[in-house]
Amino acid sequence: MHSHTNYRTVLINLNQVYNMTMTKNRHHNPSEETFELAAKILKQGDIVSFPTETVYGLGADARNSDAVAKIYEAKKRPQFNPLIVHLADADDAAQYVMMNVYSRKLAKAFWPGPFTMVLPLKEKSGLSDLVTAGLDTVAIRVPENQTAHELLTEFDGPIAAPSANKSGNVSPTTADHVESEFGPELTMIIDGGPCHKGIESTILQIDGGEITLLRPGNITAEQIEKVIKRDIEVQSSPKNNPTAPGQLKSHYAPKTKMRLNVTDPEPGEAFLAFGKYKTDKNSLNLSPSGDLVEAAKNLFSMMRTLDKLGLKNIAVAPIPLTGLGFAINDRLERAAAPRGET
Ligand code: TXA
Ligand code: MG
Repeated sequence: MHSHTNYRTVLINLNQVYNMTMTKNRHHNPSEETFELAAKILKQGDIVSFPTETVYGLGADARNSDAVAKIYEAKKRPQFNPLIVHLADADDAAQYVMMNVYSRKLAKAFWPGPFTMVLPLKEKSGLSDLVTAGLDTVAIRVPENQTAHELLTEFDGPIAAPSANKSGNVSPTTADHVESEFGPELTMIIDGGPCHKGIESTILQIDGGEITLLRPGNITAEQIEKVIKRDIEVQSSPKNNPTAPGQLKSHYAPKTKMRLNVTDPEPGEAFLAFGKYKTDKNSLNLSPSGDLVEAAKNLFSMMRTLDKLGLKNIAVAPIPLTGLGFAINDRLERAAAPRGET
């Protein structure tokens, strides 16, 4: 009898130890209880990491400045960089921003999806000034990822979320990446598996009839122009004087130096190939078949893997400038830009 009790005690203790270590803040196969817990954490003013179809986000209640401040603190992000507000449904947007004929058409075409619109902020929107960084516009996105949607629905409010990486680092496309950026620093990471799109959402600013692509992404300029039946401006690669605050040129950067448009990597370099290249132990192929969608999905994850080799450079094969190729080249150029510009 006595030994039986001891046996049970040991089991319980082992279980406690297990819970205190790696699974403490990470929630696999999110269930209804996971979303209830996450919503509770958000309402208490804490941050939660969650997947979207593009990259993992670091979310906080967009109406709570104390909570949003925790995002900036965790990311070590410059204060002037405004955040994207995520909503459960396209219909919720009108509560926070003024929509016009263009934004309505685009919302109908691309929400939910990997598409963000920067729109004029409504008075009394209730959003924290820290989300907008004091601007009179705000970036809105309705993600299509099921886990993100369930979290937003359960929380029933706007979630401000940048990508879940330390400022300047490569965006995370798996829960492992988030964990390696923040370790146990986060109260909760919802593990919804790898992100299907792999690069951040397209950002389009709409200011009356002035329509500008601020960040290329999965939804291309051509797709946007087709919906609104007119041309849009494409913001030229932001330098150190960005139109979109915080669009620093050096961004998405691994520790290893990047060398672009390389067809013939040198010995001692890691190689990020595309199309018909034979890969070896220091190289990975974004898409052997030359598929840009597959390449976008693999981009950040493969950059991370090659970065870990600690070689002198990461050489990158040329990526064609068509369709999603613009977004991929944009991220690669930022990753290759001179460091220390923040
Ligand atoms: O795919 C995505 O968009 C991911 C997921 C988590 O939704 N989020 C993301 O957020 O990439 P972040 O914070 O890493 O990038 C947001 C970009 C920043 O470059 C910021 O400057 C710009 O959006 N932005 C936000 N609000 C803006 C505004 N009012 N005007 C101009 N740019 C804005
Ligand atoms: Mg980011």
